[in-house]
Amino acid sequence: MHIINTMKILFAASEALPFVSTGGLADVIGSLPAALAKDGHDVRVALPLYSAIDDKYRRQMTFVCAIRVKLSWRNQYCGIFRLEQNGVTWYFIDNEYYFKRLSLYGNYDDGERYAFFSKAVLDILPYVDFRPDIIHTNDWQTALVPVYLKQMYANIDSYRMIKSVHTIHNIEYQGIYDFGILDDVFSLSPSQAPIVEYKGSVNLTKGAIVCCDRLTTVSPNYAKQILTEEYSSGLHYILAMYEYKLSGILNGIDVGYYDPASSPALAAKYTADDLSGKAECKKMLQRELSLPESPDVPMFAMISRLASHKGFDLVTAILERFLASDDVQFVVLGRGEIQYERFFERMAAQFPGKMRVIIDFNKDLANRIYSASDIFLMPSRSEPCGLSQMIASRFGSVPIVRETGGLYDSIKPYIAGTGEGNGFTFAAYNADDMLYVMRQAESLYRDEPEAFSALVKKVMGVDFSWGASAAKYIRLYSETL
Ligand code: GLC
Repeated sequence: MHIINTMKILFAASEALPFVSTGGLADVIGSLPAALAKDGHDVRVALPLYSAIDDKYRRQMTFVCAIRVKLSWRNQYCGIFRLEQNGVTWYFIDNEYYFKRLSLYGNYDDGERYAFFSKAVLDILPYVDFRPDIIHTNDWQTALVPVYLKQMYANIDSYRMIKSVHTIHNIEYQGIYDFGILDDVFSLSPSQAPIVEYKGSVNLTKGAIVCCDRLTTVSPNYAKQILTEEYSSGLHYILAMYEYKLSGILNGIDVGYYDPASSPALAAKYTADDLSGKAECKKMLQRELSLPESPDVPMFAMISRLASHKGFDLVTAILERFLASDDVQFVVLGRGEIQYERFFERMAAQFPGKMRVIIDFNKDLANRIYSASDIFLMPSRSEPCGLSQMIASRFGSVPIVRETGGLYDSIKPYIAGTGEGNGFTFAAYNADDMLYVMRQAESLYRDEPEAFSALVKKVMGVDFSWGASAAKYIRLYSETL
C-alpha cells in the first residue's frame, strides 16, 4: 500500500484541551493532532469559540476574517480566529449567539448550534486557504460534517476529493432530534431523510455512519461490542450494514502532560526508578484531605464522572462492607448523579479515618490523587476506551478494571508467580467479583510489598503514548485516499 508522506488533516470537534473540556474527547483532541503533526503532517483543528475559553488563549489568537454561513433560511455571522500550538493550527469559529452559553451541551438548541458549527467547518476552508485530504470528525456534534460533505459539497471541485473519517467516542450520545426540524434546522430535504432518519427521529450519528468514508471507535474491543445489542444503544442494525467501514484504534494519552517526573501539580516528582517522591505525594494528599498520614495503608482512588455506566452501582453495593472490615483509605473525585454524590458523602461521614469524597472536576487535584494513590478502581459497565486507567498507570497507581471496551484492551490481569499483566481485572459485572480483586490487590500490597512495588514500576513503564495509535490513523487515512 502506498502511504502518502505528508497529509493534510482537518479535525473537527466540540471540545479540546487545554481550551475547553468536559471529558475524554477533549484529551484526545488535545493530543492526537499534535502527535500527527510531529510526524510531519499538516494538521489543523476546528473548534467553537465558546465563551468558556480563557482570555489567556484569546490573546494568542489572530482574527482571520468573518464570513456568513448559510443553513436552511439562516444566514449567520461566522468569525474565524487562528492560533498555533505544538505544530497544530487551530481555527476557532466565533458566533456569540451560539457559543456564548453557560454550558457546552444541554441547551435546547444544541442541534442547531452544532449544525451551524459543522457547516462552518466546511465553509471556512477557502477563506483559510486549506484543502484537506481528510476531515476527521468526532461524536454527534460534528457528525453532520460528513453528511454535508457528501450531500451539499460533492459537486464543488475543491471539496470533491476530501475524504472523511468519523470517530465514535461514546455511542450512548447520538444526537437525536425531532424529525420535524430536518429541513428547517439541518437543511436536509425529504429525499435526504433516509440518510439521517432512524426510528422516526433525526439521528446525527447514523448520518455520519452512512456518509463517512471510514468509521472508527476508540478501542478494538469496543468496535466489536457496538455491533451487539447490549452495547450499541440501538445502532447495531445500522452498524452491521456498515461494518466494512468500522475499525477500533486505542486512544493514547499525552505522556508529556501526565508525567510524574515533571507535572507541576505534584508535591514531589518521581520516576519508576525512584519512588520516594510518590510516597511524599501520598503523605501530602493525606494531609490535604485530613486523612491519617499512614504510609503503609493502601490508598484506593476513583476519579470519574459519577455516572452509572462507570460502574458505581457495584461500588455502592460493597463499599460499606469493605470500609468496615479492611484497613484501607478510599478517595473519590468526581461529580454527577446525585444519588452517588450523596452515597459517597454518607460513607465519608461514617468512615472519617478512611474515606474522602471531593465533588468536583479538577485536573490538578486529579493528578495529585493519581500520584498519591496505590490502587485505581475503574469498574465500568461500558467503556469505549477509558483514559484514566492509562493516566493512573503512568503515575504508578495500579488499575483495577472490569474487562470491557478499551479497559480490556489496555489492562491485562496480574498473574502471581509469573508477574505477568499490568493491573487487576474482573469479567462479570458483579460487585463480589470486584471486591474479590480489590482484596487481591490489597493483599499483594500488604503481604508482598516487593512484588507490589515491582508491579507499580511495571505499570509506569507501559507505553500509553500516541505513537503506535497515531501510526494506525495515518495508515487508515492513507487507505481512504
Ligand atoms: C469518551 C469515552 C471514553 C473515551 C473518551 C475518549 O469519553 O467514554 O471511554 O476514552 O471518550 O475517546
